[in-house]
Amino acid sequence: MEELVALCKRRGFIFQSAEIYGGLQGVYDFGPLGVELKNNLKSAWWKSMVYENDNIEGLDASILTNSIVLDYSGHTETFSDPMVDCKSCGLRFREDQVPKSCKKEDLTEPRQFNLMFKTNIGPIDDGNSYAYLRPETAQQIFTNFKNILDSTSSSLPFGIAQIGKAFRNEITPRNFIFRVREFEQMELEYFVAPGDDDDAHTSWVQKRLNWWEKQGVPINNIELYEVPTDELAHYSKRTVDLMYKFPHGLEELEGIANRTDFDLGSHSKKQSELNLHAKVKLNKDSNSKLSIKNNDGAMVVPFVIEPSAGVERGMLAVLNEAFTIENLPENKSRIVLKLKAHLAPIKAAIIPLKKNDEKLVDLAKNIKSTLQELALGRVVLENTGNIGKSYRKHDEIGTPLCITVDFETLENNSVTVRDRDSMQQERLDIKDIKNLFEEKIK
Ligand code: GAP
Repeated sequence: MEELVALCKRRGFIFQSAEIYGGLQGVYDFGPLGVELKNNLKSAWWKSMVYENDNIEGLDASILTNSIVLDYSGHTETFSDPMVDCKSCGLRFREDQVPKSCKKEDLTEPRQFNLMFKTNIGPIDDGNSYAYLRPETAQQIFTNFKNILDSTSSSLPFGIAQIGKAFRNEITPRNFIFRVREFEQMELEYFVAPGDDDDAHTSWVQKRLNWWEKQGVPINNIELYEVPTDELAHYSKRTVDLMYKFPHGLEELEGIANRTDFDLGSHSKKQSELNLHAKVKLNKDSNSKLSIKNNDGAMVVPFVIEPSAGVERGMLAVLNEAFTIENLPENKSRIVLKLKAHLAPIKAAIIPLKKNDEKLVDLAKNIKSTLQELALGRVVLENTGNIGKSYRKHDEIGTPLCITVDFETLENNSVTVRDRDSMQQERLDIKDIKNLFEEKIK
């Protein structure tokens, strides 16, 4: 973990937030390469959900959440962790995360601590006009269910996908970006007819495993954890967690839950007419029945299968898999980030052999703009004149291709192309670069 954290800082992937003031615990900023990697991971998820499935629609709902939504979702009442204070060291811990150095007799009785961030709405802070920063992206998908049904021609089964920030006032944020207070989720709520939920759940577990494999996180490094009944969230009939071997241990990367008809039922009016399976709080505030016509024409409240993955945890898993230290001849070694090409923050570096040589730099710029126009991701001009240093840097940040423009290029239009993983170099005509780049990066 230390080496990975050091690389992330040194190369501009991830920084502690407000570092110049000592930082803000559990909050991170994503630097020039981190933002690219993050966007690429989110884009791969979005493509696999929204573009590759005609029955999945996208949504980008608000972060500020009306408190009433979270009352009916159950978060106000139950979204809490048991917390204890240590009278000796004066610190507060989650009950299951008390360090061994704190003696049992110094700990207070556990108290529930709600994890939601509350914020004031409007100019008067009278304690009554508040909202929450959403603790999961899911709720606004449920509250928009009718809007999306009315504005699309969706019928069961169908899904609504969303990527966005979520906030949790974690008592003990830790392990770099693994457990943080501000993070992003990639959540799909997949609505199915009651009775079709068990099969849909099993099928989504497999689809999600396959997707992680495509991002460079092998299925063999993920264990399925069948969450025991007494640990299930209040809304869940069954949850399968994808547990990944993070550098600090085996922990949850993504949860795939069968949320039954709990959420749509909870946010509906006239619940007694809806034949709900889940036990829900009586709703006196909603103006909608969140139901849909089943294939046989009956109105039903669908069951929901929810694959929910954290972007930061995904980045950590992807970086951990890609991070490699390779031994080279002559007792040398190199760090190389073997990221899948579609996730790499920079797709290719174009390197003029001599810094500021006008002819070489012009040619390099032309190649850069030709490749950049393909819109497959960021291509950079690396005008340092130090070829060895440039290769080392681009190995460390996972750039799949380095293309060097040298004096031979001026004579015969050929360039040297170096592959990140094999370090093999080949001489190619400039006109063939576009094809090679497309082949490698797509
Ligand atoms: N809507 C369901 C839900 O939010 P969850 O298991 O609480 O379920 C889903 O969260 C995913 O969000 C987790 O699998 C994890 O990847 C990510 N996540 C949750 N809390 C997090 C935190 N404090 N820091 C980073 N990621 C977190």
